Amino acid sequence: MSTSDSSSEASSEELHHFVRDLARQVCELQLLRYEAPGEIKEKAPKDLVTEVDLLCEELLISRISERYPNDAILSEESGGKISPTGHTWLLDPLDGTANFSRANPIFCTCISVVEGKKVKHAAVGAPRLGDIYHARLGAGSFRDSGGKTYALRVGETEELEHAFVGADVSFPPANQTHKNGILRLFRSCWQLRSLGSAGIRGAWVAAGYLDLCIGTRNTVWDYAPTALLVSEAGGHVTDLAGGPWTYDSGGLLATNNTALHAEVLKILAED
Ligand code: IPD
Ligand code: CA
Ligand code: CA
Repeated sequence: MSTSDSSSEASSEELHHFVRDLARQVCELQLLRYEAPGEIKEKAPKDLVTEVDLLCEELLISRISERYPNDAILSEESGGKISPTGHTWLLDPLDGTANFSRANPIFCTCISVVEGKKVKHAAVGAPRLGDIYHARLGAGSFRDSGGKTYALRVGETEELEHAFVGADVSFPPANQTHKNGILRLFRSCWQLRSLGSAGIRGAWVAAGYLDLCIGTRNTVWDYAPTALLVSEAGGHVTDLAGGPWTYDSGGLLATNNTALHAEVLKILAED
């Protein structure tokens, strides 16, 4: 390893440590305010934001700007842009707000660092579950829990008939995209899990608790952690047509292996 390789490895490790620690700090804040979400607003129909979403975002942005002032930030509540060249932080300060607003314990914070088209670091902190999931490109996916760190590996299910599927979907009249394919997918799998948190369902595919998950929107802060956690845990990630998942894809499919992935893509395409 050359000197410059080893110093970029050291700075990548340092950045990863920062990402993990940031997730831990947001988790602490979410736990402090569990059952006290403050004011809850409907920012768009059936799309909630609580005072705690905003406090988590403030914490994230202030810590990141202090430590990495030149990096770009795109965050769910305050917006921003993806930098075409350097690092961009993609933030979902509180994922699963509808759950959090009624003290359902399935919620998390999602933090990713991307560069070019690559997701390089990601963390999903789910404080009421006691888990921080994290991954670094080329270095694997992990779960920190109870003071220990566990390496993650996707599950071994090869057929949809035996698969657990994670998805939160609704089909308002104005958006029926992929409706038939997704309903066929639900009918063909063993069981469906609708968690109310895109971050947790992706982490659960990486951990092998689910065999696949599907998301049908274009919210990069929700999907970037899934893309890295699942691929680093040995799984497969694409858009809903089987092309590479990128920041402007209209959805994401993450599975534990290529055979199951191909089966799901075929079902989705049969419209
Ligand atoms: C939502 C959750 C939910 C998914 C929605 C997301 P939010 O995120 O991840 O599972 O179905 O599409 O918007 O608004 O709670 O951050
Ligand atoms: Ca979200
Ligand atoms: Ca959110």
